[in-house]
Amino acid sequence: MTLKLRKFERRDMDELFSWFPTERDVLQWAGAGLSWPLRKGEFRKLIKEHRGDTLIREVWAVEAQNRMIGHFQFALNKRLRTVGIGRIGLAPAARGHGHARQMMDLVLECAFSREWVHRVDLLVYSHNESAIRAYQNAGFVLEGTRRESTPIGGEIWDTHIMSLLRYEFDKRTERE
Ligand SMILES: CC(C)(COP(=O)(O)OP(=O)(O)OC[C@H]1O[C@@H](n2cnc3c(N)ncnc32)[C@H](O)[C@@H]1OP(=O)(O)O)[C@@H](O)C(=O)NCCC(=O)NCCS
Repeated sequence: MTLKLRKFERRDMDELFSWFPTERDVLQWAGAGLSWPLRKGEFRKLIKEHRGDTLIREVWAVEAQNRMIGHFQFALNKRLRTVGIGRIGLAPAARGHGHARQMMDLVLECAFSREWVHRVDLLVYSHNESAIRAYQNAGFVLEGTRRESTPIGGEIWDTHIMSLLRYEFDKRTERE
């Protein structure tokens, strides 16, 4: 199945929100920067940032056969030549079918298509094994861990930071 990117639209919000039904799901997917329960107003602001002139954020949908099956966002920092990738997620029915590999290829092609980008990075909770493996498969390297950084219920999660540099991405692309 071929995946493709398009801008995330307001009409996609209900579908996206349905993928993350609990506070734990939202936290694991999006970190602590989004409210629980999810709020459309917050998302409308994010979508607007993707429409403005000074691009600081991009909000993307991943489609297969004209249906949204995935989502991610970019936080762009031209001064630091960095793209922070966040809120990567697949629809529950699309998980476990190998789409993560193709989605990560699209994410990285999109990020590194801007010549100024030197580094992409992301945060992932240390228990999220499928996500970590998907990022390692895409070439990301574990840089470190913010220990006991996120309390939820009776637990406290550790947060990994992972990154991929342009020359590592280029090397990976040459090998393929
Ligand atoms: C993260 C996410 C996009 C990964 O997609 P997925 O379809 O579930 O991933 P896959 O099933 O392809 O698994 C990815 C890799 O992890 C491996 N894997 C899966 N479960 C694993 C586990 N418990 N332990 C170790 N590896 C595991 C798979 O074998 C695969 O590796 P491979 O391609 O080398 O065989 C998806 O699970 C998701 O949307 N999760 C909810 C939102 C979320 O947590 N987002 C991450 C925010 S940082």
